[in-house]
Amino acid sequence: MNRIERFLVNSHLRSRCVARYAERMVAMIRPGRGTRLLDVGCGNGAATLWLARRFPVSITAIDLDPAQVRLACTAAGSSPAIRFLIADARRLPFSPGAFDIVWTNKTTHHIPQWQEAFREMVRVLRPGGHLIYCDFAGPKWLSSFLRRLGGDDFGWPVRGQLHALAGESGLEVVHLKPRMLNYEAIWRRGGDR
Ligand SMILES: C[S@@+](CC[C@H](N)C(=O)[O-])C[C@H]1O[C@@H](n2cnc3c(N)ncnc32)[C@H](O)[C@@H]1O
Repeated sequence: MNRIERFLVNSHLRSRCVARYAERMVAMIRPGRGTRLLDVGCGNGAATLWLARRFPVSITAIDLDPAQVRLACTAAGSSPAIRFLIADARRLPFSPGAFDIVWTNKTTHHIPQWQEAFREMVRVLRPGGHLIYCDFAGPKWLSSFLRRLGGDDFGWPVRGQLHALAGESGLEVVHLKPRMLNYEAIWRRGGDR
């Protein structure tokens, strides 16, 4: 992120909104005690910290940007229910099925190879687990336009590609709300548990 993005993303008002939004989304799953939740692209950790306060979950949160992870660690102090790591969403350092819930907000559009990140999120989800995905995603023409505008540093997922990828990955739709450019979905990974 550039300095302006960083300033906006870390603003108090936005952090508060993101935290409440995360709570509303995760509440749809009603996580039970001991649920293992992964926050992909956690930024300053505002949502992570809030989720750990509101639900009986243990949270691992990753971000590629060491400065954001530092901010998140400072804010978290020594909470035993949270661990922050510097990691790339395209190569998550976790074993298959390691999490019950994967939550990601406004992150994949920052990743040119966002499909790799999406597959990784599915890989680390246990069968029967939920992927809560929120990001900007539009039609193909808009994605191509935004990519030309923003350069190769951005991914700008395409809605049709997201649907196809979710289907190929064996995800079942639990909640789907595409609105304007924003796209929020909860998918359940097929399987027994
Ligand atoms: C717009 S911020 C969103 C942060 C947070 N999820 C929120 O909603 O406030 C996007 C975040 O994605 C992170 N990011 C970008 N590429 C990434 C990657 N390949 N792996 C992990 N995180 C990445 C950035 O460092 C940044 O913190």
